[in-house]
Amino acid sequence: MGKITIAIDGYSSTGKSTIAKRLASALNYIYVDTGAMYRAVTLFALQEGIINAEGELDEATLIEKLSEIHLKFVPNAATGRSEMFLNGENVEREIRTMRVSGFVSKVAAIKEVREKLVKIQQEMGKDKGIVMDGRDIGTVVFPDAELKLFMTASPETRAARRYKELLEKGEEVTYAAVLKNVEERDLIDSTRTISPLTKAKDAIEFDNSDMGLEEQFERIFDYSQRVIVKLG
Ligand code: DC
Repeated sequence: MGKITIAIDGYSSTGKSTIAKRLASALNYIYVDTGAMYRAVTLFALQEGIINAEGELDEATLIEKLSEIHLKFVPNAATGRSEMFLNGENVEREIRTMRVSGFVSKVAAIKEVREKLVKIQQEMGKDKGIVMDGRDIGTVVFPDAELKLFMTASPETRAARRYKELLEKGEEVTYAAVLKNVEERDLIDSTRTISPLTKAKDAIEFDNSDMGLEEQFERIFDYSQRVIVKLG
């Protein structure tokens, strides 16, 4: 049976990564979380003072220093999951903080940042057998992907999921702040000039506001099986 490319796009905290990871593991495919890559570039900008204490981003300096950013996904044998390394350092935890979430949409709107990351992503998927999640996977990174999903859920449902996750990680946040971040990112991600978040014409829209994980997985796994069987 031939391998396919699966593109999963959608708004933040729609559960894309949970489904994508499970699907990749069930199909024995590679899983790539492209949001982690944009988050790592944002962390670099914060570490280097390219985003200053006032929260201003110096785009020109970030573009100039892009060649100094080396990203790598390293599998963690204990958890079976890949972790993001930025210039040799494990940053998996730091890239998920609200501090990074607060700036990542601005960084992801920079053309040169996107060009660099899209190139790496296309290289990762050149042999197919990949499940990639993000915002522009079905539209820009792999417009020819055999299966494309576009995940949605209400902002309140998504903020509640994210809030629970952050509390579990010990971050001190309020639900209101998380909801505000989710809404702000939705707006920036879907209105930016370069590769805005939009549903590809041939993507299947999937609203999971009222759907449990098991049901989502079963349905999406079923889609993937149909495509794989059809393509032989
Ligand atoms: O999936 P996530 O929430 O971890 O993504 C973090 C941010 O990165 C998100 O607000 C938008 C951006 N992003 C993007 O612009 N393109 C992608 N392919 C993936 C993420």
